[in-house]
Amino acid sequence: MCGIVAYIGPREAYPVILKGLKRLEYRGYDSAGIAIAQDGIQVYKKKGRVSELEEFLAGRDLSAHCGIGHTRWATHGEPSDRNAHPHTSADGRLAIVHNGIIENFAQLRQELVNKSHHLRSDTDSEVLIHFIDEIRLSNSCPLEEAVRIALKRVVGAYVIVILDADHPDLLIAARKGSPLVIGIGKGEHFLASDASPIVEYTQEVVFVNDYEVAIIRADELVLKNISNELQTPYVQKLDLELAAIEKGGFPHFMIKEIFEQPRTIFDCLRGRLDAPSGTLTLGGIREYAQLLYNTRRIIMIACGTSWHAALVAEYMIEELCRIPVEVEYASEFRYRNPVVRTGDVIFAISQSGETADTLVAIESARQQGAIVFGVCNVVGSSVARLSHEGVYTHAGPEIGVASTKAFTAQLAVLSMIALKIARENNTVDDTRYRHLLHELESIPGKAETVLLLNEHIRQIAVKYCQARDFLYLGRGLNFPVALEGALKLKEISYIHAEGYPAAEMKHGPIALVDESLPVVILATRDRFQHKILSNIQEIKARKGRVIALVTEGDEAVTALADDIIAVPEADEVVAPILHVIPLQLLAYHIGVLKGYDVDKPRNLAKSVTVE
Ligand code: AGP
Repeated sequence: MCGIVAYIGPREAYPVILKGLKRLEYRGYDSAGIAIAQDGIQVYKKKGRVSELEEFLAGRDLSAHCGIGHTRWATHGEPSDRNAHPHTSADGRLAIVHNGIIENFAQLRQELVNKSHHLRSDTDSEVLIHFIDEIRLSNSCPLEEAVRIALKRVVGAYVIVILDADHPDLLIAARKGSPLVIGIGKGEHFLASDASPIVEYTQEVVFVNDYEVAIIRADELVLKNISNELQTPYVQKLDLELAAIEKGGFPHFMIKEIFEQPRTIFDCLRGRLDAPSGTLTLGGIREYAQLLYNTRRIIMIACGTSWHAALVAEYMIEELCRIPVEVEYASEFRYRNPVVRTGDVIFAISQSGETADTLVAIESARQQGAIVFGVCNVVGSSVARLSHEGVYTHAGPEIGVASTKAFTAQLAVLSMIALKIARENNTVDDTRYRHLLHELESIPGKAETVLLLNEHIRQIAVKYCQARDFLYLGRGLNFPVALEGALKLKEISYIHAEGYPAAEMKHGPIALVDESLPVVILATRDRFQHKILSNIQEIKARKGRVIALVTEGDEAVTALADDIIAVPEADEVVAPILHVIPLQLLAYHIGVLKGYDVDKPRNLAKSVTVE
């Protein structure tokens, strides 16, 4: 899950590539590099952030009109100057940037070593450019052909862009499994892993499909498949504004995105939910709508935060629609040979729409005859294109690696889907249905109220930011929210945190409880509150420190807990959308107080495009 940028055209390539790499740095940030078409090819690469590469290059002559760039998330070979991209062919006449994993690289490497190739790095990517060059030289064929021949032998996922010293007016790119967008300008082309580096130059883009090879000149884009058949580029208009990918005066994208939630939840509901008329319109679910309403089993596949959204949806759909739901880690679903029957419906949930585990799980489900609905945030992404139908979450670009606004938008979409099915199947009566529509419609306003607690939550963060471990507890729909709160804290502050169903605590985790363990407990007013009160007493009896999320006006929990975060009341079915926001803020402030880069936490990347 690296970030790739390339440019060919009349502009100076370096500034375009550098700015683009900074925009893509949330995809991987352990090393960076560029290669430009200048006196052959000049390659510069460095371990560390893009800003360190920029410093290293300050004052050099970098003039060129064609170049490639890369910001890395290491898979093969530790982060170092040697393993940073671009990598070059044996004679240095070809340079490559690669995002993905070549699974059969060891075998290819051995073939090359047997042919006396000397490889300088530990990466699969360098093996690929040597392999392509070997084919080009031994077949005396053009680079484009050598690329197609080589890719037929490659097993794994890739986006590659290649620069050729002998043809400085040409770029060759190809894609399978990892994302690639080509921006079409007037006499210039921009290539990137997603649209964020392109939006300031053009709104005209082509999302490259799997097994496609692009031959790009400043004023020409040719698309072929790896069997050398011409493909017609499908040019789409980007629905993205530059402001959406800027910090807008906030210190971090994460806090900006947390504060965007009242609007993003509203945008997600807008034009779909109309409580006064009692209508719900999901334009992306038409052809297979009846199959969805009549299905006897729903399987949710996702990873990370999206998996937590799936767990909330399980509770909602079983509660409202009385349809059994199974929630699967996409990576396990793919390889554990699950039972999928005709008529089963799969929901694939993904913010980026490019998570490799989720993509391969979708393919596996489709091969078994299931209908796949996508719930996705990135328009035109692979999950959207691989699914039969689906619903976009319209949360706008999410730059912070820790998912926040995309999660609440996923919950809003899944709530609407659950209510739609329940309405169609009459599994909820009209009063409850209309009540829940009003409850959902009121969430953006209540989210505004929750954000007013920001400073209060920051003070709680000050109190607990030195803790070594945290426990998050919840019951019912608050349980997945507890899991999400724990994940946010782990991602942002590197503090070990676990989420548990509150009752499960007695079966082990309670052994962790002492005066040094903060326990975040979701104790809002719902049908479980009396049970939660006993859980709090059990923790207090062992000197645990309780941070309780309560409903405004609560007294019982307030009397017991060490710290209180009081949120507006909401029906428990839609309340998870609200209840997660204070947990996002708590994680954010603890991360900032510990001095960490909350937008780019260590070892993580925004979109996990390798299995
Ligand atoms: C969440 O904060 C993380 N960034 C991560 O767990 C993420 O949710 C997971 O990688 C799934 O990503 P997706 O929703 O883009 O598929």
